[in-house]
Amino acid sequence: MEQFEFTPANLKTIGEIIKKYPAGRQASAVLPVLDLAQRQAGGWLSSAAIEQVAQILQMPPIRVYEVASFYSMFNLKPVGRNHIQVCRTTPCWLRGADRLTELCKTKLGINKGQTTPDQQFTLSEVECLGACCNAPIVQINDDVYEDLTPDSLSKILDELKAGKQPMTGSQTNRQGSAPEGMFISDDQQAGSSKQNQQKT
Ligand code: FES
Repeated sequence: MEQFEFTPANLKTIGEIIKKYPAGRQASAVLPVLDLAQRQAGGWLSSAAIEQVAQILQMPPIRVYEVASFYSMFNLKPVGRNHIQVCRTTPCWLRGADRLTELCKTKLGINKGQTTPDQQFTLSEVECLGACCNAPIVQINDDVYEDLTPDSLSKILDELKAGKQPMTGSQTNRQGSAPEGMFISDDQQAGSSKQNQQKT
């Protein structure tokens, strides 16, 4: 069976997270603590990790498992170095999400839920990633790639395979969620950042 022990640094972080909640409500910290466990373990949650989270938060392990198995951002089996999550919800689907999934399948030779033999890529489909206005969207690890086509996604996968960091965000250089084809000039952008700074 897999072993799992939080590092001292993560135990300290967990203590700080729990302090944000009223006494006796430490179970409310289950999401950030599971996230810490997953990051420490290299991208997935073993039964041992779930049990340790349960022990620390004084929860029945099944309750922690229920949370971990509900949210697609938690993985219950090992994933590759690059976890590709293709959004398949309606706005992304209308804008070509299926073609992105097909590209991944043919280019990487894997199906949904599978990992390439070199452990570089895992392919998943997920629900709305919250960036619908720049659909279609793919999240890879913590980065989001927007306004994708099969060609632009193919280039991103090539760069990741070569150990490079591809450009994140809009792949058509769209500014924020401005209408397609509309670009904000550098001057306008500087003005709007200044206004935002003044508001804060
Ligand atoms: S539908 Fe894909 S980001 Fe919302």
